[in-house]
Amino acid sequence: MTTVTAHRGAIFHYKDDANLQNAADSYEYFEDGMLIIEDGKVVAAGEAPKLIETLADGTTIIDHGDQLIMPGFIDTHAHSPQAGAIAGYGEQLLEWLKGYIFPSEEKFSDPVHARTGAAFFLDELLRNGTTTASLYSSSHKEATDILFQEAEARNMRIIAGKSLSDRDVPEGLRDTPDSAYEDSKELIEKWNGKGRLLYAITPRFAPTSTKEELEVAGRLKREYPDLYMQTHLAENLHEVELVKSLFPESKDYLDVYDHYGLLGKRTIFGHSVHLSDREFERIAETGSVASWCPTSNFFLGSGIFDYARAKRMNAMIAMGTDIGGGTSFSMLVTLSEAYKGTAIRAETKLSAFDAFYLITYGGARALSLENSIGNFSPGKEADFVVLDLESTPLLRYRMEYTKTLAERLFVLMTLGDDRAVAKTYVAGLEHVSK
Ligand code: GUN
Ligand code: ZN
Repeated sequence: MTTVTAHRGAIFHYKDDANLQNAADSYEYFEDGMLIIEDGKVVAAGEAPKLIETLADGTTIIDHGDQLIMPGFIDTHAHSPQAGAIAGYGEQLLEWLKGYIFPSEEKFSDPVHARTGAAFFLDELLRNGTTTASLYSSSHKEATDILFQEAEARNMRIIAGKSLSDRDVPEGLRDTPDSAYEDSKELIEKWNGKGRLLYAITPRFAPTSTKEELEVAGRLKREYPDLYMQTHLAENLHEVELVKSLFPESKDYLDVYDHYGLLGKRTIFGHSVHLSDREFERIAETGSVASWCPTSNFFLGSGIFDYARAKRMNAMIAMGTDIGGGTSFSMLVTLSEAYKGTAIRAETKLSAFDAFYLITYGGARALSLENSIGNFSPGKEADFVVLDLESTPLLRYRMEYTKTLAERLFVLMTLGDDRAVAKTYVAGLEHVSK
């Protein structure tokens, strides 16, 4: 038996042909809208008074009043074993990794810890309205398996992979090129394409993988060309110098990964802050993605992502929280900090329409998942959030003085956070944390 549910409320989403160059002209907004879902997929989205006529007698209608229904948010870069190390005081990247992050990830060798950690992380994503994320697990095969189990239990669209690191990490996080290959392969065979789950080859970053291990990453990518590939790129200037000294034969940081065949349409480069024009060009030409992680870049003092240049050079951009370098699971807070970065640079400022594009349809396009998620076209998987634009006294007060949709969206991303997420639906079903 099929189940049809209709959700009534304000509806905002981007149309199928939307892109970052015309995000402001390519959305649909229905003030009194209706989203019809059948068996976890979108049937229609449009004006409620029209669509209500099409419903069979007895169809369940959930009325969200004035609340705003949007596609589920997409976080393209975060670390599931790092929630316990968020807000680590006082260091920049390389010292911070040693002082806070590696110890936090080592604890994931314990399967009990790995399960509570994964469950907490995924529930926290959903509580913040994020229904799709690309995640770095720890280097442990079992912890990564547990992460996939927990994502499957929530029916989330999750991309994830075991981190690869065979040098310059503590013993408890160190693999070998052989074990990296075998463990990744086992996880790929078990999880990639199972339900809504997808696998990402995940070398942590060039400084913690030997050439032999980067070779393994390239081999996996050749053997499974449809897999995702995620790593860090040019986040911090000391890191960039370190990569130069470790790979003197490479043209630049991106070229290290290029050498091993790791660039392409499903490749996500976390941060991409300190890049040359050549690197941006190569990212654009290969269809790779730069994941912009503003709360992390500010928190770790890494730098300010060059949005104007990335956009000008047609590089695919998406947003990431980078938990635990980032300081919030909320994609609204992430957008607010992103805007501030562009305000400091004082060039092309991030507009509200571009911002919400980046965490919905644009994020889906960046992950090559636009045929499955990201908007409310018929047949899409019904991941969505219901946003309360009056979730705090300040939001309610400020909203009274807005006149346009652009203004309301900008106020929402600037003042909103997890409190603005009234409900999160995954494949048509409301998520309720246990
Ligand atoms: N570079 C290498 N590993 C990491 C990590 O875990 N977090 C961040 N922000 N940068 C990294
Ligand atoms: Zn990261």
